[in-house]
Amino acid sequence: MRKNIVAGNWKMNNDLAQTETLITALKGQTISSDAEVMVAPPFTNLWAAYNALKGSDIEVAAQNMHFAENGAYTGEVSASMLKSVGITTVILGHSERRAYFNETDEILAKKVDAALAKDMRVIFCFGEELADRKSDNHETVVGDQIKNALFHLDAAAFKNIVLAYEPVWAIGTGETASPEQAQDMHAFIRKTLADKYGAEVADSVSILYGGSVKPNNAKEIFSKPDVDGGLIGGAALNAEDFFAIVNAF
Ligand code: 13P
Repeated sequence: MRKNIVAGNWKMNNDLAQTETLITALKGQTISSDAEVMVAPPFTNLWAAYNALKGSDIEVAAQNMHFAENGAYTGEVSASMLKSVGITTVILGHSERRAYFNETDEILAKKVDAALAKDMRVIFCFGEELADRKSDNHETVVGDQIKNALFHLDAAAFKNIVLAYEPVWAIGTGETASPEQAQDMHAFIRKTLADKYGAEVADSVSILYGGSVKPNNAKEIFSKPDVDGGLIGGAALNAEDFFAIVNAF
């Protein structure tokens, strides 16, 4: 059966000292749920975070990577480089990467392939903008994002894929999708997978919700049958808030 996962995406927050402080605070918290817990600090802090959390129940993930193995890509980091500092999970396709760094479905398909080729696990993000929802186009947009970046994969690849639905209008805005909106979209995503790969694959893939998940709304969102966890931004920067969300399962 699929796993429940709560992952903290720190985005471009926390220098080394702040990372060490937050990790110490995270280690002081108790996990009282069955959720797998992950944090994704910026590249410069991955090695420190990996070492500080080794042997704990908290995994460290990266926020991005390049699709090439190495070479003349100034400023970029490859899957092998991440693995060399202990990282085996990478977030790909976050809407901020799509919007500010021009990451297209085509680029993301290559990144997904590169990560899977190195036996990494991918948390693949997607989600519609407000205009798409207002024009009732959100399912088409999300369906296309998934198909364009993932549907060249074979069914077996999905054991290393986690999906994260993050409606752009709910990210960092304090506005969340209602639990019903999240459930409707997650059910649509699972059906999209089932239509292509069959129910067994669709039922095995964890689908996380992201977008202003907070301690006071996590329980209701996570109670929905097709919501298997959360990708948490702002609230992941505070250990107590983050663990209140983890323990909402
Ligand atoms: P917020 O929780 O700050 O809305 O961010 C969500 C997000 O983008 C996680 O990847």
